[in-house]
Amino acid sequence: MKLRELIDKLELEEVLRKNEWITLLEEYTEEDAGYAAKKARLIADKIYGKEIYIRGLIEFTNYCKNDCYYCGIRRSNQNVDRYRLTREQILECCDKGWELGYRTFVLQGGEDGFYNDAWFEETIVRIKEAYPECAITLSLGERSRESYQRLFDAGADRYLLRHETANELHYGKLHPEELHLKNRKECLWNLREIGYQVGCGFMVGSPYQTSAELAEDMEFIHQLKPHMVGIGPFIPQADTPFAKEAQGTLSMTLFLVSLIRIMEKNVLLPATTALGTIDPKGRELGILAGANVIMPNLSPVSVREKYKLYDNKICTGEEAAECRACIDRRITSIGYNIVSKRGDYKV
Ligand code: SAM
Ligand code: FES
Repeated sequence: MKLRELIDKLELEEVLRKNEWITLLEEYTEEDAGYAAKKARLIADKIYGKEIYIRGLIEFTNYCKNDCYYCGIRRSNQNVDRYRLTREQILECCDKGWELGYRTFVLQGGEDGFYNDAWFEETIVRIKEAYPECAITLSLGERSRESYQRLFDAGADRYLLRHETANELHYGKLHPEELHLKNRKECLWNLREIGYQVGCGFMVGSPYQTSAELAEDMEFIHQLKPHMVGIGPFIPQADTPFAKEAQGTLSMTLFLVSLIRIMEKNVLLPATTALGTIDPKGRELGILAGANVIMPNLSPVSVREKYKLYDNKICTGEEAAECRACIDRRITSIGYNIVSKRGDYKV
């Protein structure tokens, strides 16, 4: 079967066999990727129009109890200047964000036991009191079902938890022994059942990843049917065990963005900061390949440099307002508009 026929099949049936995924990912040309991007963009335009949603990302702690081999803020990295934001600082980020038109706030951090469920509940309630029309997205890693339930009941709307890789063996090569794919997947299913809008995802070009693993990622996404999928290139960080590994490519990341859009048509799909880091026009290209979300940084400038998951991360020096204006310019330059809406999943 010609590659374009596989892309057409994915659009119509939303499934490919594993060997078809592998063929597609190993044999595609830039023309095939262009064909997929055009299709993906048409699908996104039909559902979400020319609107691009923004999410204000608040990186509230870089302490983490985990030791993921790829991650710059892993617990064994002694070169990280650790910080925690207070609730008041987080609320100030939201105030600034609201003024700038953000209607979703994303609280993301390492797995930091300093903050307990009660602290998150209170924080969520305070944000919702101040801004009842906003959506709150959490990205706090693996927690118990009870904890997820409590935070949902307090008012959290969405949860981002990348599965990282859907293949058990590959998961074991990216994480220390105490972390298990089974647990991560169970968290995702729990989050779904509780009623969150859920996001999974993975890094493109992570060490030891082959097209067979990517095929399994696509199959897992189709099975989970998440509301959001976050993918970005793996980028090495100098103080991690993967410092010398190659980074993920722009071409493969964009192609996968398109394939995810074609398969899961309504999904909320960010053009990630990592994509913007490996190419100056990465995020614009991500939108043109089928993404419809951008997640600019709302963290205080004083801590941004310290949340370095990978090297050369962009936008670490700019004020929130500068980031907002920059994103506006970038998105209008390609014929799309940033909108000041919650930007929920459209059924
Ligand atoms: N602790 C939470 C969790 O585990 O989901 C949220 C924070 S974690 C740093 C957010 C995501 O950053 C991870 O899911 C991972 O995919 C991504 N990430 C970490 N290190 C990276 C790297 N070197 N290159 C690209 N992305 C990376
Ligand atoms: Fe915990 Fe990266 S190892 S956030």
